[in-house]
Amino acid sequence: MSDKKLSGAGLRGQSAGETTLCTVGKSGSGLTYCGYDVSDLADNATFEEVAFLLFNGELPNSAQLSTYKAQLFEMRDLPKALKEVLKLIPKDAHPMDVMRTGCSFLGNLEPESDFSMQQVAANRLLAAFPAIMTFWYRYSHDNVEIDCVTDEQSLGGHFLKLLNGTSPSEQHRRVIDVSLILYAEHEFNASTFTARVCASTLSDMYSCITGAIGTLRGPLHGGANEAAMDMILKFDSPSHAKEEMAKMLANKEKIMGFGHAIYSTSDPRNVIIKQWSQKLAAENGDTSLYDISVACEEFMWDEKKLFCNADFFHASTYNYMGIPTKLFTPIFVCSRLTGWAAHVMEQRTNNRIIRPSADYTGSEPRKVTPINER
Ligand code: COA
Repeated sequence: MSDKKLSGAGLRGQSAGETTLCTVGKSGSGLTYCGYDVSDLADNATFEEVAFLLFNGELPNSAQLSTYKAQLFEMRDLPKALKEVLKLIPKDAHPMDVMRTGCSFLGNLEPESDFSMQQVAANRLLAAFPAIMTFWYRYSHDNVEIDCVTDEQSLGGHFLKLLNGTSPSEQHRRVIDVSLILYAEHEFNASTFTARVCASTLSDMYSCITGAIGTLRGPLHGGANEAAMDMILKFDSPSHAKEEMAKMLANKEKIMGFGHAIYSTSDPRNVIIKQWSQKLAAENGDTSLYDISVACEEFMWDEKKLFCNADFFHASTYNYMGIPTKLFTPIFVCSRLTGWAAHVMEQRTNNRIIRPSADYTGSEPRKVTPINER
């Protein structure tokens, strides 16, 4: 066993608190939100229903859903000052930095004045994130100042229309909706834990979410879908993929989109998004990206008994929908915001500042030698 595992690095396997929001690797297909299996939600609910579920603990009835969607619809536009800030961010900025700045700046313009405003702040971010991402993207890349309001009823459809300027197909609407459902919540993952630690100091919602975005940015967490795409695009064929991956493993490189800190044999989100990737490949007519992805999956299982996590087939899925790779992780933000905000609210209901201890491994106690004697 490695030193990492012996020392309990990464807090692996330790419970850091209680939650009513989610189970990972415990029941059903392996992932549940408020008692509902994620596969059930992906088949039978919409992202807005899942957001309502995470915020209220129950799925909405149709009147509640209509009211909630209408509230979100009204909150989609961005303040002029935020648009001006987004226009200043360069084209080559990391899109997660854009999301972080957009979230933080909105917190300056519309602060969560007290905790009674927490749901308003969460809804505002949920409604505004698609426009924050696409307004910056279209302005910096295409020199187009888009209208941040669309007639699309769902947040997923709204995002696709903001990005492309045209209404998405029914299939693409459904795929992005399923994707947002799959990414919505995942218990005490690194970014959610960041949000909870921040909330435990009684900080505001925007600070909690900004910190979570920064944590999600890393390639070991949310950045894996982009990194997986970059890798897959380097492979010409399934056999080429296997050859190159063998070299990567020989060089002890981590293959992005594989493995998981909690799941040990499969990620329940993978089977769902993989099916959509396959459908989109068939729709596209060129299935090579999907075929190469399947070859990667087979290779990693045969060689290392490592399985695809949620990110791997998201890469080909988003690519088939024409979404630029650099926007993959920001889409994750648009979804996971629901889980983060729900955890912030949960932390606040029974709060104690999160302050673990550390095992000290540094120098023995010693005295300062005056600077001129060192
Ligand atoms: N590629 C190659 N080897 C991998 C791997 C991957 N994606 N994921 C894990 N391994 C190997 C490690 O090298 C390690 O081998 P060792 O015991 O010989 O040192 C072993 O499997 C355990 O990995 P470890 O990094 O200790 O697992 P973890 O629980 O700390 O990390 C992840 C989990 C997700 C961070 C890790 O699997 C990873 O880095 N995956 C790639 C990034 C990714 O897809 N992240 C998105 C997560 S949803």
